[in-house]
Amino acid sequence: MTKLEKIYEGKAKILYTTEDPDLLIQYFKDDATAFNAQKKGTIAEKGIMNNHIAAKIFKHLAAEGIESHFVELLNDREMLVKRVQIVPLEIIIRNRAAGSLCRLLGLTEGMTLASPTLEFCYKDDALGDPQVNEYHIRALKWASDDEIRSITTEAFRINEVLKKFFLNLKIELIDFKLEFGRVQNRIILADEISPDTCRLWEIGTGNKLDKDRFRRDLGHVEQAYQEVLRRVSQ
Ligand code: TMP
Repeated sequence: MTKLEKIYEGKAKILYTTEDPDLLIQYFKDDATAFNAQKKGTIAEKGIMNNHIAAKIFKHLAAEGIESHFVELLNDREMLVKRVQIVPLEIIIRNRAAGSLCRLLGLTEGMTLASPTLEFCYKDDALGDPQVNEYHIRALKWASDDEIRSITTEAFRINEVLKKFFLNLKIELIDFKLEFGRVQNRIILADEISPDTCRLWEIGTGNKLDKDRFRRDLGHVEQAYQEVLRRVSQ
C-alpha cells in the first residue's frame, strides 16, 4: 500500500488515501497538544509507540468481537485502516474521577465512581470540544437514535474489555476517549486508543502512564509511553 493523497491532518495523526478507495493509511505523529492545543510540544517517538500500542489494543478488541477500523500494522508509524465517515463526537468513559470531571464537579482526583460514566463531546476544536447530550446530537443530526444506542452500548463494552486487558498488565484504566465512524450501514470504532487518549495508572504505585505527564509537566513522558508499549507487547 502506498500513500496517495493527504486527506486529513489532525493534532496527532494524518490520514492518506491509498489505491483502494475503502482503505486509508493512518500516520502517527510525535506532536502532542493539551488543553485544546493551548499547550503544544512533541514527545520523542510518541508516534511509533502509539501506533504499536493502538494496533495491539485494536487486535485485542477484535479477538473479543469488537470491530474497529484497524486492518493491519504497516510499519513503525503507519497502520492501514478502513475508510469511515467519522461521527463528530468524542465519547468519554470514566471509571474514576480525574481531569475535567474533577474540575466540573469539584471532585478529588482518583475518587471511585460507583458505576462508569459516559460523556459526549462535539468534535470541534474551535469550540473546544464542548460537552453535549443526546438531545443536541439528535437535534443537530450528528447521529441517529440507533447510532447513539449502538455507540453507547459499544463504548461500555469496550470499557469492560479494556479494564480487564490493562488489569492483567497491572494498569488501571481510569478513563478514555473513543471515536466512531460509519462504514456501509454499521458504526465501528475508529481513531486510536493509546496513552494520548486514556488515563492509565500503574497499580500499586499510582504512577501515571499517560499524557497527563505531558499535560502537567510531570517528567518522564517518553518513559511512561514506553512502559505501556512494553506491557501491551508482553
Ligand atoms: P478529560 O478529563 O480532559 O475530559 O479527559 C478524559 C479522557 O479523554 C482522558 O483519558 C483524555 C481523553 N481525551 C482525549 O483523548 N482527547 C481530548 O481532546 C480530551 C479533552 C480528552
